[in-house]
Amino acid sequence: MATRQIMTEASAARLPVVVLISGGGSNLGALIAEQSRWPYRIAAVISNQPAARGLERALAAGIPAEILDHRDYPDRAAYDLALAAAIDRHAPGLVVLAGFMRILTPAFVARYPGRLLNIHPSLLPKFPGLHTHRRALEAGEREHGASVHFVTAELDGGPAIMQARVPVVPGDSPETLAARVLVQEHRLYPPVLGWFAQGRLRLGEDARVQLDGVRLAGPLDLNELPAVLGM
Ligand code: GAR
Repeated sequence: MATRQIMTEASAARLPVVVLISGGGSNLGALIAEQSRWPYRIAAVISNQPAARGLERALAAGIPAEILDHRDYPDRAAYDLALAAAIDRHAPGLVVLAGFMRILTPAFVARYPGRLLNIHPSLLPKFPGLHTHRRALEAGEREHGASVHFVTAELDGGPAIMQARVPVVPGDSPETLAARVLVQEHRLYPPVLGWFAQGRLRLGEDARVQLDGVRLAGPLDLNELPAVLGM
């Protein structure tokens, strides 16, 4: 009984996060796996795709999972209103896009200022949008990667917080490159949520990223982080 009470209090102290997905949910899996290390807890997972495999990952971890199919709504504005209502039922401190493959309306984004994160498979500002791995190969890039950023109304345009770089190697296909980037995505996202939950990470009034009260000159590099950042 006493243990139960302590656990309840401990989980109440963790920042509730709602994660939005559309597919496999491997990033969701990484966030779930790491949530015991950081003061966030995934309160709910919402998918716009009924067949998203990530829903099973959530349920297997005992996390409420909901389907909100965009095909049930007449337009983007109506869907985003319903989505916001579904999110807000969980009163999250942070909303996290993890392979959520929908363009969000400005009204939706404005509802979560500084509380909406996305992970994108490129070194932003390079290659916003879709087919990033193929486009990086076609452009002859020698380096590719992923970015976690605050979401603003501009598609994949919000301030980047941290990036992970991977080399492009001879013979790479979009698939091999994507797989190598995805491994790094799984390392990239959990600490960013962790810092946010610790109150160390915020989007400043000037739309610049602040960590521990210091404005970042540019995105952090996952592989060049000082140990003080708790990874
Ligand atoms: C990830 O590579 C993520 O960066 C990308 O979708 C994949 C989802 O994988 N997101 C975008 O392209 C958003 N523009 P997952 O479902 O296995 O986490």
